Amino acid sequence: SADSGLGPHEADHAARVVRARLDVSAPACGIVLGSGLGGLVDDLEDARRISFGDVPGFPTATVAGHAGALLAGRLGGKDVIALAGRFHMYEGHAAALAGFPVRVLHALGVRTLFVSNAAGGVRRTFAPGDLMIIADHVNLMFRNPLVGALHDGDVRFPDMSEAYDPSLRAVLRDAARAIGERVQEGVYFGLLGPSYETPAEVRMLERLGADAVGMSTVPEVIVAKALGMRVAGVSCITNLACGIGQHPLSHAEVLEVGTRVGAQFRALVREFVERL
Ligand code: 6GU
Repeated sequence: SADSGLGPHEADHAARVVRARLDVSAPACGIVLGSGLGGLVDDLEDARRISFGDVPGFPTATVAGHAGALLAGRLGGKDVIALAGRFHMYEGHAAALAGFPVRVLHALGVRTLFVSNAAGGVRRTFAPGDLMIIADHVNLMFRNPLVGALHDGDVRFPDMSEAYDPSLRAVLRDAARAIGERVQEGVYFGLLGPSYETPAEVRMLERLGADAVGMSTVPEVIVAKALGMRVAGVSCITNLACGIGQHPLSHAEVLEVGTRVGAQFRALVREFVERL
């Protein structure tokens, strides 16, 4: 078969290695931490950690702001597994590799996935520092992690009508209200990158219905849906997209705002997990 080598067999093997290193019992939630949002790992109680480099099938993460580790611990009274760092397609990774960590989480028993990212604001009312519950996404990466021979356990044609689970979105809204945090809700557009969009591209995205734009998350969510997982997601609007904002974009700005809104983000995720 046209096996990518990144299917359930490889995920089970990785999960065995992870379990041998960290006690992972019944995780209530898997958490993918976006650029600048890795500070949440400091909130984990009884945290256990394995570097990405020690997980079979994982390459070592390369982008600044990504520690590159899988952690187990307790958050909001629940057992969680967090991925601090991810594999982006703009780094040259295949879509199947970008989605592989989600297969490992699934093999570790995760059935509810929380994804996060740093994103540019396209909706004109957004401001840097806003948090946006992801209501839906548009895949403009022109790649799909499920291309190829069907893996055991995968749905061939996953239904994406409720990719971001409506009841989990309600839990996120309740969690935000409980901590007194204003959250937006909108559509995340995933682009390949690594260049940011031109003003003309941003105008196009705006007309297509984009609220936020980024370079991640879509492959992970598609894999999660193929495995029948429930997904919730939050974008941290670190900056406004070109032509929406006034000044050129820098990765440093993305990381700085991520750190600044990190506290609100951490409180929201904890409150969300507590309510699962
Ligand atoms: Cl403006 N665009 C993309 N594609 N990704 C981003 C971003 C913008 N800001 C943060 N991440």
